[in-house]
Amino acid sequence: MNVGKSSRLSVTRSAWQWWKDLAAREGPLSATTKLARALWEFARDSTPARSRQRYGDIDYDWQHRVNTTSAAVGWRDRLLGVFYSSYQPTEETLFHEMLASLREHIRADFHDFIFVDLGSGKGRTLLMASDHPFRRIVGVELLPTLHALALENIGKYKSESQKCFSVESICADATEFSFPAEPTVLYLFNPFPEAGLRRVIANLEQSLRDHPRQVYVLYHNPLLEHVLAEGTILHKIGGTHQYSMYGIN
Ligand SMILES: C[S@@+](CC[C@H](N)C(=O)[O-])C[C@H]1O[C@@H](n2cnc3c(N)ncnc32)[C@H](O)[C@@H]1O
Repeated sequence: MNVGKSSRLSVTRSAWQWWKDLAAREGPLSATTKLARALWEFARDSTPARSRQRYGDIDYDWQHRVNTTSAAVGWRDRLLGVFYSSYQPTEETLFHEMLASLREHIRADFHDFIFVDLGSGKGRTLLMASDHPFRRIVGVELLPTLHALALENIGKYKSESQKCFSVESICADATEFSFPAEPTVLYLFNPFPEAGLRRVIANLEQSLRDHPRQVYVLYHNPLLEHVLAEGTILHKIGGTHQYSMYGIN
């Protein structure tokens, strides 16, 4: 699916597709119950108290004069998030900790690597990654509104420690992403349901067979880690309870 600037994802179609996929795996009764539960959660999450809680992550935005908080996401995008995955930005300290740990593992900085975030939302990881010397940085986001904000954020971002100035956000379905044949750090913060993650890891492994090279995966909040663990080329090389690191060496 290529999501052009002008196209809008339909909430009804997204909900129908979500229900159909679930009903095919678990039966219509279970799918309907889970849909009702997801919508109830969405309604609870829309109360003023819950909205206030989401402003807890706003320090990064104050510091860099950008808009990456999950609090300022409109109801329509939050509802679409129920059927894809909800937008939530990665916390700054943890992000730099993950990159430091990977850098220690590869015993080099990131000059030779590109950084790719599949499901990049408003682009906070793209900005944070630009403080490291990546060759270039690419984010792929499904929702056009979040992608548009990522573009604004990339334009506005100012940091004295910025080292990479080739930063782009693409609006597309990241499960169909064609990996560039370059050494890559792939970042995932739970953007897909299991079928989508399987497709991405299969694409990545096929790309590695076609073009052998150094590739590392940083998987934040690795709820579906078994999908990576079942792969035949990528192996676990480290991590904590908050993230896992996979690589080919
Ligand atoms: C948990 S957020 C992570 C945001 C960002 N990576 C970060 O760490 O700050 C997951 C994002 O994945 C996006 N997403 C879900 N399904 C997607 C798909 N098929 N293609 C591209 N983006 C997707 C959601 O819209 C959401 O913005």
